[in-house]
Amino acid sequence: MKPYPNLFSEVRFGKRMLKNRIVLSPMGETMADPDGTMSEQAIAYYTEIAKGGCSVISPGVVCVDYPVGKPEKVIFRVDEVKYIKDFNRLAESVHRYGAMLIPQIHHAGGQTDITITDGHIPLCVSDMDVEHALLQPHRQVGPQKEMTTEDITLIIQKFIQAAVNCQKAKCDGVSIHAAHGYLINQFLSPSLNARTDEYGGSFDNRARFGVQIIEGIRKACGPKFIIGARIPGKEWVSNGLTDAECCEIARRFEAAGCDYLDISIGATNVFTTILETERYEQGNRVPFAENIKKAVSIPVGAVGALRDPWYCEKLIEEGRVDFVSLGRALICDPNWPKKAASGKADEIRPCISCFDGCTNRLFDGCAISCALNPVVGRESDIGRLQKTDSPKKVTVIGGGPGGMQAAIVAARIGHRVTLLEKTDKLGGQLNLACIPPHKEKIGAARDWFAGELVRQGVEVILDCEANLKTIKSLNPDAIIAATGAKPVDKIPVQGLENTVQAWDVINGDVAIPEKAQVTIIGGGIVGCETAQMLLEKENNVTILEMLPNIANGLEILHTIDLLTEFANKHVNVQTGVKVIGISKDSVSYEKDGKEENSKADMIILSVGQKPEGVELIKELKEAGYHVVIAGDAKNPAKIIDATRDGFFAGLDI
Ligand SMILES: Cc1cc2nc3c(=O)[nH]c(=O)nc-3n(C[C@H](O)[C@H](O)[C@H](O)COP(=O)(O)OP(=O)(O)OC[C@H]3O[C@@H](n4cnc5c(N)ncnc54)[C@H](O)[C@@H]3O)c2cc1C
Ligand SMILES: Cc1cc2nc3c(=O)[nH]c(=O)nc-3n(C[C@H](O)[C@H](O)[C@H](O)COP(=O)(O)O)c2cc1C
Ligand code: SF4
Repeated sequence: MKPYPNLFSEVRFGKRMLKNRIVLSPMGETMADPDGTMSEQAIAYYTEIAKGGCSVISPGVVCVDYPVGKPEKVIFRVDEVKYIKDFNRLAESVHRYGAMLIPQIHHAGGQTDITITDGHIPLCVSDMDVEHALLQPHRQVGPQKEMTTEDITLIIQKFIQAAVNCQKAKCDGVSIHAAHGYLINQFLSPSLNARTDEYGGSFDNRARFGVQIIEGIRKACGPKFIIGARIPGKEWVSNGLTDAECCEIARRFEAAGCDYLDISIGATNVFTTILETERYEQGNRVPFAENIKKAVSIPVGAVGALRDPWYCEKLIEEGRVDFVSLGRALICDPNWPKKAASGKADEIRPCISCFDGCTNRLFDGCAISCALNPVVGRESDIGRLQKTDSPKKVTVIGGGPGGMQAAIVAARIGHRVTLLEKTDKLGGQLNLACIPPHKEKIGAARDWFAGELVRQGVEVILDCEANLKTIKSLNPDAIIAATGAKPVDKIPVQGLENTVQAWDVINGDVAIPEKAQVTIIGGGIVGCETAQMLLEKENNVTILEMLPNIANGLEILHTIDLLTEFANKHVNVQTGVKVIGISKDSVSYEKDGKEENSKADMIILSVGQKPEGVELIKELKEAGYHVVIAGDAKNPAKIIDATRDGFFAGLDI
């Protein structure tokens, strides 16, 4: 029997059949040109995903009212006829691989700000002190204009025109974005809509805007054009939509002409309910979709941290939903569907829900990439990896993510690669990074890299510390030094002998106490994650950090999660401090010119990492070897930096 027969069965969207039940969840990617036109890079990115086998490509937040309705600085637009040609190129490109193109058409309403809308005052449904101002952490609160009835009529018309433009471009349909607190959701939600005209107040009135858009598109585009909608299955704000109202929205949208519904979250001031960090379980939003499925007869899909084919198969088999919307899983591995369909699910590169490559870059205004898949965002430059015309004998030193990624790509383009790792296992710091609470996905990533080394034919030698002698015996043409980092163990303070290293606490060499008083010197990512481990054993934790903030370098959604946890568990966080002395049972420090003291049963040192292998690299270079340094060995940072560095090192060696 074929693997995952339900996931790979057809499903009907309106008058059309999808080849399987895997749909790309709409995601902005910052790959438009600055004026909103389609870039070659965007076409290459979406085409890679289409080639990977999903049934629908759905570019996110395509603007219908540019620039007032922009949710991000750089996005696609389909508000004018001149953008039809862009979407036509994309449509033809993804159609070639059997995928449909259904752009998500969008208006941000009040959920944007003038820095994003090129100085134009954003429109809002109601001029009230809305909770949604809290919603997206990278936005500013600023002036907004409450929509008049004329504005409403105009924006409905703009949605319809955008759909007509998409149809002319040979898109298969459009999906309207009626969730995540954006304009249509702002009309729907009583928490955001305080209007007193026919678009506010009663449920009928609040639903009117969305219903009129769908009816208008159906009328203009005819019965064969697919219309979908992303709607809320839940709102996480006071005075928000009730679950029953979410079901009623689904019924109204179906009656208005919708062919399918993709169920997400509405207004929320907890952003991780829309973008789940790794602490959320797979499929945590499925119950909301299930609830809505009972209310309608059109296909209903779920989204949110869906990762494993077996899990998605079960959702479809049990009739809980009709299709799955995969976001980050397809960024991380566009070939997820192909691999699942061919019985190679264990080869899928597993998204670790870190956001470092995707939303983090998007919020910064960069094109998205991926911490584990450095090709993302660079498809037009790199494309399909070309075999080298000068194969070399390459030695990679270090089996962390940087070294493994370098070895994989070098082998893939035709070099003969040997990887040396001084310990008895691959993974480097990933073996530590996967231990703190909620981080087990990093262990799966390490295992994927290890498997890929085998699949790409890399010779791996464990328990082998590279030195000049071992390198001479291998006689490589080129060396990639990905020797990683080690913890800083010296700071100019007396009493360091009373401390233990955070790495040793994390890896279990130092036992974690219970219900003790613990002081951590250094509140970077490693210090904070050590604190999380200590909290699991009800320790009282104090963090002393020199900088104004803790967890520097941690992605923003994770930072929100972390700070909430620390606040709930009463972690004593002291920032802007200078440690001046350490004794057996206390740490003294200066803060705001005053001397303070933190009593402690255990004192943990976590003051950063420094490159490992510096001497070795110098020695190898002096011996005349061509050495490229990658990852933490160059500059201790994060997985995304190590894999990107490793990728380019392996490609360019
Ligand atoms: C507790 C902890 C949590 C972390 N959490 C995250 C996180 O959530 N997200 C994130 O992005 N990053 C995280 N990091 C950082 C991330 O793990 C590193 O940035 C990344 O592993 C660096 O990869 P690398 O390959 O450059 O180096 P490393 O992972 O350090 O690997 C280097 C490897 O080289 C080997 N080696 C060194 N010298 C030699 C030699 N002479 N011969 C042979 N082998 C040698 C080492 O044994 C090691 O296996 C965390 C780090 C720690 C410690
Ligand atoms: C980089 C990025 C951009 C996103 N942009 C959009 C968007 O434009 N429209 C939208 O409805 N959701 C957007 N989302 C949310 C995703 O569609 C999806 O609902 C969310 O990532 C959870 O699914 P996942 O765990 O499969 O990624 C975005 C998510 C990411 C990671
Ligand atoms: S950057 Fe992280 S969260 Fe985003 S797709 Fe890649 S692995 Fe997943």
